[in-house]
Amino acid sequence: MSAAVSVSLTRYLIEEQRAGRIDAELRQLIAVVARACTSISIAVSKGALGGVLGDAGTGNVQGEAQKKLDVLSNDILLEANAWGGHLAACASEEMEHSQPIPDAFPKGGFLLLFDPLDGSSNIDVNVSVGTIFSVLRSPEGVSQPGDQHFLQPGRQQVAAGYCIYGPSTMLVLSTGHGTHAFTLDREHGAFILTQRDMRVPEETAEFAINMSNQRHWEPAMQAYVADLLAGKDGPRGKNFNMRWIASMVADVHRILTRGGIFIYPWDRKEPGKPGKLRLMYEANPMGMLIEQAGGAASTGREDILGLQPDQLHQRVPVFLGSRNEVAQAVAYHRNAD
Ligand code: AHG
Ligand code: MN
Ligand code: MN
Ligand code: MN
Repeated sequence: MSAAVSVSLTRYLIEEQRAGRIDAELRQLIAVVARACTSISIAVSKGALGGVLGDAGTGNVQGEAQKKLDVLSNDILLEANAWGGHLAACASEEMEHSQPIPDAFPKGGFLLLFDPLDGSSNIDVNVSVGTIFSVLRSPEGVSQPGDQHFLQPGRQQVAAGYCIYGPSTMLVLSTGHGTHAFTLDREHGAFILTQRDMRVPEETAEFAINMSNQRHWEPAMQAYVADLLAGKDGPRGKNFNMRWIASMVADVHRILTRGGIFIYPWDRKEPGKPGKLRLMYEANPMGMLIEQAGGAASTGREDILGLQPDQLHQRVPVFLGSRNEVAQAVAYHRNAD
């Protein structure tokens, strides 16, 4: 009896193409991103031995000090896109403007956005980090996509995913037909399908938030979290646990695996910044993955994926995860309006 043949990412993507759910170009683009994530995983796992820890000595458009791995991961993704034939114009957390397709190359059909290294503050303390990516279609008739062409609502995404560099390296992907997990087989350099159709439990007793910002939240958010902390003797009638890894990829992966609600709410810490997370390459791709797994993703008042972006690096409040818990948090905010 032959052992069951495992399904590699390559085979999965070919099957999706044969089923007509993705086209050949999108299949190739996802393979290019997966190749880049494998290279980033190798760099991350070298740690101090790879000279990849610590600051790069430069800053990014976010006003953050860049880590060496932020810059290296960004370069690896851009090089992979070039190696794959420039199928996409690229936008990144680490680049102020999108990168056009070289004139020598035909315009690819896609726009690729990424957070090349998510959770940078965890690199030097050896805690899981990741890469987040989002794929949009390049508008018809546009020969050279510019920043403005990336400003499409999250519902327009044709694919979204992340790679988490943890005890194992996992690629979690959706092309609009469920959310599926692949684990990197380092010996063969291939991602292997290890979980089809991840599902987020509708209920949860676990929330993820950075409590140190509590004094900066709006009243509705204060009330919602106070009731979580009040436990079974409070209005919610049950005890809640808390987790905060400070790598969105790791917190979202836990929620996709066992449920929960992840929150980075509006706060008044920095005027003009409605929260910390970026819409185009953090909230939108994570929102698609969560919704495709039966969860919900909201700003606290409206669906994240319905937002019309007005600039490439705009920030947005994020409530995502177990559908019924997100609905509870939204109710506190809408009732306060
Ligand atoms: P990045 O490292 O790509 O800039 O993103 C970090 C984000 C996100 O990964 C995480 O959920 C959040 O920042 C943590 O914020 P705090 O450090 O304020 O808790
Ligand atoms: Mn990030
Ligand atoms: Mn980042
Ligand atoms: Mn950053």
